[in-house]
Amino acid sequence: MIKVGVVTASDKGSRGLREDKSAPVIKEMVGQIDGKVVEYVIVPDEQAEIEKTLVSFSDDLRLDLVFTTGGTGMSPRDVTPEATLNVVDRLVPGIPEAMRARSLEITSRAMLSRAAAGIRGQTLIINLPGSPKAVRECLEVILPALKHGIEILRGEAGECGRS
Ligand code: MTE
Repeated sequence: MIKVGVVTASDKGSRGLREDKSAPVIKEMVGQIDGKVVEYVIVPDEQAEIEKTLVSFSDDLRLDLVFTTGGTGMSPRDVTPEATLNVVDRLVPGIPEAMRARSLEITSRAMLSRAAAGIRGQTLIINLPGSPKAVRECLEVILPALKHGIEILRGEAGECGRS
């Protein structure tokens, strides 16, 4: 089982003014890779608060995989990538590259997402855009490769097969 955390970054969501429709998409779709969402929080678009949550999910809860949703765009309040980049030890650029490359076939606005991904300790942290539609489209692209990546991160898979 892959232990998954979800961090929704949304000013309105954190004040109960907007229903979070993206986290349920993540909860449903991670089942495809034997993932289970064991922690979920909604935080405002405050960099320090996002960082604190990511550190706690990685260092204290030792989750395998953490998805953020929201706050990757160009509004002055969009700071999720900055929070992520501040807490990861190593970048995994191929993940956002793949999301943007495939998403550009759907909408040119995909280039507006500044999503990042990286590793803190043994936790893989991935930024997803905010809308449930974008979350679904991005997860469809990356989920097939994530299980193998997490096995390598955990030290369970040494050799990369050809499949
Ligand atoms: N990616 C996919 N696959 N599908 C989408 O509809 N929307 C884009 C982009 N990425 C989109 C997408 C839009 S409109 C924006 S503004 C950015 O993600 C940033 O979204 P965020 O600020 O909600 O994180």
